[in-house]
Amino acid sequence: MYTSKIKGLGFYVPENVVTNDDLSKLMDTNDAWIQERTGIKERRHIKKGDGNSTSVMGVKAAKIALERAELSPNDIDMIVFATLSPDKYFPGGGVEVQEMLDMRNIPALDVRNQCSGFIYAISVADQYIKTGMYKNILVIGSENHSGGLDFTTRGRGVSVIFGDGAGAVVLTRSDSVERGLLSTHLHSEGKHKDELVLQGPSTAYWVPEIIADNPQEDIPYYPYMNGQFVFKHAIVRFSEVINEGLKANGLEVGDVDMLIPHQANLRISQFIQKKMRLSDNQVYNNIQKYGNTTAASIPIALTEAWEQGKIKEGDLVVLAAFGSGFTWGSVIIRW
Ligand code: ACO
Repeated sequence: MYTSKIKGLGFYVPENVVTNDDLSKLMDTNDAWIQERTGIKERRHIKKGDGNSTSVMGVKAAKIALERAELSPNDIDMIVFATLSPDKYFPGGGVEVQEMLDMRNIPALDVRNQCSGFIYAISVADQYIKTGMYKNILVIGSENHSGGLDFTTRGRGVSVIFGDGAGAVVLTRSDSVERGLLSTHLHSEGKHKDELVLQGPSTAYWVPEIIADNPQEDIPYYPYMNGQFVFKHAIVRFSEVINEGLKANGLEVGDVDMLIPHQANLRISQFIQKKMRLSDNQVYNNIQKYGNTTAASIPIALTEAWEQGKIKEGDLVVLAAFGSGFTWGSVIIRW
């Protein structure tokens, strides 16, 4: 068995900054409410005509990750692409990336696990590397949320939270057993699938039916979120799955050098930090600048923390996510 390690990492966010004040011009909301409840000050949105899409942003992040890994697209053996906002209903973003990067006929796998998407995606890549089947895998998390949100007052409980962006890592085979991904732990609980959901269009509720049902008031094509219910579950599952990962490796909370939680809400991160008695230096948050970018949030935050020198060789880095499904998971890395 081999170990996989992160050889290169990168992120991309659109240039267009959308502040809370900008949103308050579109809906009944305000900067104080958004900051107090979520910690978010601004987020990035794709601007019509700027050429960005979920796949395009994924490619931009991937190019940085490849350059830092000192690899070319032709060195990559597989793509794993996580998103809940693909450019098209099908095919998924993986093949779009493959085409844009002019890659060989390697497998391109699409992962649909919402806020846990990147954790699921990297865990899949890890299995292929551990068994020796592939050597270098490009793992991408990318989201274009702004294209599908309700920016009227009706959607304010959801639309102020989300932002656009992409992050990518190149996972590569390593012979070291001490360094790299030590473990991945994944979970789901389908009975809560409708608490954070986008109902349509789906094969059960296709576009003509949506329009015929109630063209004025219908909202199933916008995300629905039972915010407080999600919050309560998130804080339990985050700490549970972090502790599960640490325990599996004979480690303790005190061993953690850097926790990169999925950037769902600053209050959730702060709650976990307090519950686990971690210091400010042990947790990285950037939701203030980017909002919740779902599958992209962990690779964006991981890259930013690394660029700022907050992750060093030998550090114990923990990634953890919770999201729609419900799904959740953690990754323990010795950097
Ligand atoms: N601006 C102003 N007022 C608002 C807004 C807004 N953007 N959104 C909702 N409100 C109003 C509501 O209408 C409600 O008004 P009412 O009391 O007159 O009915 C009031 O504010 C309180 O609404 P709640 O939904 O109860 O507010 P809450 O304190 O729960 O905050 C939030 C909402 C931020 C979504 C919170 O529930 C939360 O953090 N949930 C956790 C889920 C989460 O973080 N999801 C992120 C994405 S999902 C994921 O990544 C897992």
